[in-house]
Amino acid sequence: MHCKLSYCALFLRFFLLRLAQLSINNQAGVVNIMRTLMTPIVTVDLDILENNIQEMGQFAAANGVALRPHIKTHKSSKIAKMQLAHGATGITVATVREAEAMAAAGFDDIFIAYTVVGENKLEMLARLSETVRIGVAADSIYGVKMLSAVLSESDAEMDVMIEIDTGQHRCGVTSGADAVVLARLVEELPGLNFRGIMTHEGHSYGAQSPAEVEQIGRQAAATMRTIAAQLTDAGFPPSVVSMGSTPTAHIVGKEAGVTEIRPGNYVFHDRTQLALGSARLEQCALRVIAHVVSNPEPGRVVLDCGSKTLSSDLGKHGPGVKGYGLIIHKGRVLEEAVIERLSEEHGVVTLSPDSNLAIGDVVEVIPNHACVVANLAEMMAGVRKGRLADWIPVES
Ligand SMILES: Cc1ncc(COP(=O)(O)O)c(C=O)c1O
Repeated sequence: MHCKLSYCALFLRFFLLRLAQLSINNQAGVVNIMRTLMTPIVTVDLDILENNIQEMGQFAAANGVALRPHIKTHKSSKIAKMQLAHGATGITVATVREAEAMAAAGFDDIFIAYTVVGENKLEMLARLSETVRIGVAADSIYGVKMLSAVLSESDAEMDVMIEIDTGQHRCGVTSGADAVVLARLVEELPGLNFRGIMTHEGHSYGAQSPAEVEQIGRQAAATMRTIAAQLTDAGFPPSVVSMGSTPTAHIVGKEAGVTEIRPGNYVFHDRTQLALGSARLEQCALRVIAHVVSNPEPGRVVLDCGSKTLSSDLGKHGPGVKGYGLIIHKGRVLEEAVIERLSEEHGVVTLSPDSNLAIGDVVEVIPNHACVVANLAEMMAGVRKGRLADWIPVES
């Protein structure tokens, strides 16, 4: 758990910065704002964010598929509310803590896309399900029995989605027969409703081309159709068939039988999505602003953002990604500047001869994986038309 700022300090900071109304769109603005904000700072361009959210909402509506975005990307009730305003029918979370934070912020239809095990966590879920509609993933007899057991003391109910492994080989049952066993158990045990099936076709992140992403998405959707048919034949028709991550949402959202998509990263996008061909640079909303703090020898500079800001995530799923982030300086992408090494507060950059970064320069970094960067931040600075517009607390 991160240590969060007190709300008092937060509002004081917010108002001071509101007053400052400093531009960060141009280089002078970036330098200006750094007189008030200390680097490294995680920024979110609110116009880009809104466009991303709106586009996915429109896609889902146009294709008759429900949108239940995964909010582990931002852990922010502000952003989740924007997603609901643009057509999301509910939200997805990964942890019980995220569910708790979102329920406290007023969200009343929450799916935990995770096989929750552990008494304390299950008791928390049971408490939440007394006031909020809670869905949860399960892929084992043990898990289903524990869910029912924890509900036995109350009148509360939970929806259960059976998790299917469509090729990522993380969690999930691999056969229709196993899914039928679990669906039957869910229907038999008190407190549980069998709602449907879900998968995360996260192996799409290992694809080497957009065509391969498409092929993985279609194959996963076909597997889900087959298992849905087997469940229906056995007397357990799934009312929800849920899948779709940022690279595959636009593919599986058009596939027959898929009723819901759960993309998360699309609100920010990142360097991994750029490498996969799932996003363009102008769709990348989240950036880390950093100073060049050292230039010990030609061809090497050091940024004041290290693993505590950028994370150590190399974006290993994505093809062709070198280093820990993409550097932009004065609006120019420095393709050949590689953030080779990180220590906690240092990012060591190897430069090509034509990238002339100097001590004192301010750069933007598009991280490899925006979700983990947001997770490490206590607060993100929302910027609009080059001005600081809002603070976005990271709430769990
Ligand atoms: C179970 C599950 N659903 C949905 C998503 C959303 O995927 P993405 O962030 O690629 O959009 C994830 C991401 O990790 C996930 O684990």
